Amino acid sequence: MLKATDVFLDMLTDSGVNAMSDRQLAAMITAQDAYAGSKAFYEFAEVVEEVLGFKYVIPVHQGRAAEHLLAKVFVREGSIVPMNYHFTTTKAHIELAGGTIVEIPVKEALDVKSRHPFKGNIDVAALEEVLKRDRDRVAYVRIEAVANLLGGQPVSMKNIAEVRALCDKFGVPLVLDGSMVDWNVYFIKEREPGYGSKKLSDILKEFVSYADIFYMSARKAPSVRGGFIATNRREFYEKLVVHIPVYEGFITYGGMSIKEIAAMAVGLREMIDDDLVGSELELIKYVVEELDKKGVPVVLPPGGLGVHVDATQFLSHVSRSAYPAGSLAAALYLASGIRSMERGAMSMDRDKSGREVYPDLELIRIAFPRRTYLKSHADYLIDRLLWLYNHRDIVNGLRWVYEPPVLRFFLGRLEDIDNWGEKLVKVYKKELGDL
Ligand SMILES: Cc1ncc(COP(=O)(O)O)c(C=O)c1O
Repeated sequence: MLKATDVFLDMLTDSGVNAMSDRQLAAMITAQDAYAGSKAFYEFAEVVEEVLGFKYVIPVHQGRAAEHLLAKVFVREGSIVPMNYHFTTTKAHIELAGGTIVEIPVKEALDVKSRHPFKGNIDVAALEEVLKRDRDRVAYVRIEAVANLLGGQPVSMKNIAEVRALCDKFGVPLVLDGSMVDWNVYFIKEREPGYGSKKLSDILKEFVSYADIFYMSARKAPSVRGGFIATNRREFYEKLVVHIPVYEGFITYGGMSIKEIAAMAVGLREMIDDDLVGSELELIKYVVEELDKKGVPVVLPPGGLGVHVDATQFLSHVSRSAYPAGSLAAALYLASGIRSMERGAMSMDRDKSGREVYPDLELIRIAFPRRTYLKSHADYLIDRLLWLYNHRDIVNGLRWVYEPPVLRFFLGRLEDIDNWGEKLVKVYKKELGDL
């Protein structure tokens, strides 16, 4: 709920805040605006086919709108959706449609210290078990490329191929959330045997070819504000597209501005430009390795999206019921003006009986939006996190002042237990001066 003007480095998210390129901005100016049938839409559809290989595309206003439509079309009361890991809005839409998520990441994913190169992988044996036992209840299998809430961890080509083979065997669709597929593809090139000398564009095409349905929040990899669903399956396209005029707008703008559609087409090409992709991943790697050397508990190996700090270790004296990740995000802001994001218990909602549901990981995410931050920003972040780590005993927990019933982390308000915020600021001013 902070105002952006009160933030020094805004590292809350990469969503909708990546720097756009000159070519994207230029495309916005020349886009042909029309309620129906804009040239910009058809050009965008051509780029989707060229870059991703999908014939049918449906624009939507952002990622969660795609999730809403997928849940509406495929999920029924009692359905289950096996996946590597949930994202907050994905889970909410599946549950609102009457379904349940089944998370089956590889076991290394839940060990923050494991340097497994693909901690976003699905446990294939566990998936086979679920499909054998419950095939008729499975709405679809979902893979998130760069699993956000696991600390930005990628999925390997081998894994998505194996998952696809199982989906074929049991006759269920595979849905790929490609919001951060650019970074996933970069990690495959870096880490997976056989891909080091391949072009990112070829790796991308191969990766997404395993999906029956691809969707993305285009606020992320293509650096605009929108989203889309794409497929080669005509029957899926037809089932989904009929809902667009009801929920999003006409099918050639899907709730987006036409200008953003034109910029999205450029962004889709640029997101796998071999000269560009990876600059923020290298900065993330630098910060993670520096912090790890100094003993600050970070998620390993360095992933995509941002630096993820394990709040249960950083604030081991704060009980999970007092939200260590929320406390750490607040403390980091006080000690640096950096806005980060709680990705722990507050980002889950209570269960139907009102009990807290503690997720596997209790993290803060310090995001590196694309083409935005420099090494000097990274050094500042390291400096302040180390200062905070040395003063971590001052930080205590948080409690709710106002707690909304769904996606509570967006609008909720909390207060610091025992006024620790003021104590932290006092020590900060004493040691580092008044800013
Ligand atoms: C992996 C993933 N899926 C879906 C979404 C939802 O997209 P949006 O915020 O555009 O609704 C996000 C947003 O950050 C995401 O990270």
